Amino acid sequence: MSKEYPVPPAFAAAEQIKPDTYAGLYRESIDDPEKFWAEAARRLEWIKPPTQVKDVSFDPADLHIRWYADGVLNPTVSCLDRHLETRGDKTALLFEGDDPAIARAITYRELHAQVCKFANALRQLGVGKGDRIAIYMPMIPEACVAMLACARIGAIHSVVFGGFSPDALAGRIADSKCKLVITADEGVRANRKIPLKANVDEALTRPGTESIETVVVVRRTGGAVAMLPLRDRWWDALVESQPAECEPEPMNAEDPLFILYTSGSTGKPKGVLHTIGGYMVWVSYTHEATFDLREDDVYWCTADVGWVTGHSYIVYGPLANGATSLVFEGVPNWPDASRLWQVCDKHQVTILYTAPTAIRALMREGDGPVRKTSRKSLRLLGSVGEPINPEAWEWYFNVVGEGRCPIVDTWWQTETGGTLMCPLPGSTVLKPGCAMKPFFGIRPAILDVDGQPIDGEGSGNLVITDSWPGQMRTVYGDHQRFIDTYFTMYPGVYTTGDGAGRDADGDWKITGRVDDVINVSGHRIGTAEIESAMMADVRVAEAAVVGCPHEIKGATIYAFVTPKEGVVPTDALRKELAAGIRERIGAFAAPEYLQWAPALPKTRSAKTMRRILRKIAETGSNEVDLATLGDTSTLADPSVVKRLYDERVRY
Ligand code: PRX
Repeated sequence: MSKEYPVPPAFAAAEQIKPDTYAGLYRESIDDPEKFWAEAARRLEWIKPPTQVKDVSFDPADLHIRWYADGVLNPTVSCLDRHLETRGDKTALLFEGDDPAIARAITYRELHAQVCKFANALRQLGVGKGDRIAIYMPMIPEACVAMLACARIGAIHSVVFGGFSPDALAGRIADSKCKLVITADEGVRANRKIPLKANVDEALTRPGTESIETVVVVRRTGGAVAMLPLRDRWWDALVESQPAECEPEPMNAEDPLFILYTSGSTGKPKGVLHTIGGYMVWVSYTHEATFDLREDDVYWCTADVGWVTGHSYIVYGPLANGATSLVFEGVPNWPDASRLWQVCDKHQVTILYTAPTAIRALMREGDGPVRKTSRKSLRLLGSVGEPINPEAWEWYFNVVGEGRCPIVDTWWQTETGGTLMCPLPGSTVLKPGCAMKPFFGIRPAILDVDGQPIDGEGSGNLVITDSWPGQMRTVYGDHQRFIDTYFTMYPGVYTTGDGAGRDADGDWKITGRVDDVINVSGHRIGTAEIESAMMADVRVAEAAVVGCPHEIKGATIYAFVTPKEGVVPTDALRKELAAGIRERIGAFAAPEYLQWAPALPKTRSAKTMRRILRKIAETGSNEVDLATLGDTSTLADPSVVKRLYDERVRY
């Protein structure tokens, strides 16, 4: 049983969702979803309000998910236009540069004008409704402007995290046949330059990227970049003469808003597709309720717009709610470990939403860098992306928040669009590491391996038994894969790929992935992807990748590699293989540990026993009884296990 923390007194006294309010609203949302979500849709501006609400079947034979299917809207009107009268001079985006001397506030009026100008420029370049646009940008306001400009004209954006390699970018461009890429000359993080435009140039030499007609380049550093005549255009030159008004494209609620690639347990990354109406209702509602949003809040989500957290909780949710959203270009530990807290003081941040990895890394630096800042402005803290261990939670709560700020531990996924479980502030006691309660409309359940529901206290596979408006609609270009991935293992429900437990009080705790997905510093990566990138090297006969625990990153990558006959396994080769992963995927996917494996443990039907490899990788420096590695009776050659165990990487 986890330790309990009551709602901090200052917070409990304020006006927000109380336990009874939560229970009442939750019941309404479950008893009459049609009514509940019809009402919730009113939080958006519609050109034609929907008369239909929910049209869903989770039956694999007839799988469809539609919300507000006859509604017509443009999401940017909810994010921008409707605020002009009442919030025109309010800061929409607050930019804090990598260099602490750079900061800039952009009002709703200014953001509206910038989005309209860039949207006009895109239209002039021939971009229209339904076209796919890749965005490969640093964390600068133009990244948000680019996303919103696409949405303004009905184009579908596909943001690719700036840490991905040219190969990874090329694969994503090719999969959705993007027409245009928006990038910057260079990005800057921790005073280091990232050659984004050069990466784009390289990506566009790869086969499959011929669909790209134009590359738009934002000048961020002014560094020298090659500009290909006719193909490459400077952002500032494009927007200069554009009018600051742009007619929003009327869109159906079920038209796509964006594609965002994410890793699963098999194959190449999937293009998760979100549509406009339901997603916008979900992110605006969850953003307001989860963070107890008030008009004068300065809200800071430290994610990158390259991940779903940035889409939902830097851009669409906060802007739909008329909030001030801070966009941070840098990293938490540069110039020093005090940076996050200094930024909180500088901009008087009231809500801070960050990842356990950052918290653990900063915790290691001790309390000093925190205590030398005030942090009095903070009133609420959030956590997202991976399970937060109780030690990190307590440090966040006691040292960073000085016991004054509730922590909302928000569990969700790229696929879910926004938060599905969290302790809504004021509505419940807090338990370190627990996501506590489902959001309105969410019906979680725990299934055992045979698909039987586990009621009451227990743990197992987390599934969601009914749809919610923010749910992904399909895998771009591959609906069958959507069905196979999420609705086939346990027919009739959405399978999350996560494990969860429910305690005697009925409170939820997410335990982490139960499939072959590793969450490294909150970056999700499929083991199959790393393995196939590894096997692209001609010297590798076979590779198996598993996750193992890491004090700061949560999990890290451990690879077992069998070199081809005649290849000598050296340290140099080890480094080259890691470099190969950096090149094919990105630096964050490079294995931390690489063990040479003369052979992999296989069943008699030649299936690699990953469970055993996971156990070996997890043992690190611990000596364990080999018997605890589990049942090895199905192994073709049991002696392999002992060898791998004896030669494991000690960390
Ligand atoms: O395993 C869960 C973990 O992150 C996965 C989703 O990753 P991604 O799609 O990249 O989205 C990250 C941002 C929401 C989940 O399947 N995860 C996310 N939030 C939490 C979490 N695990 C435990 N607690 C959380 N609060």
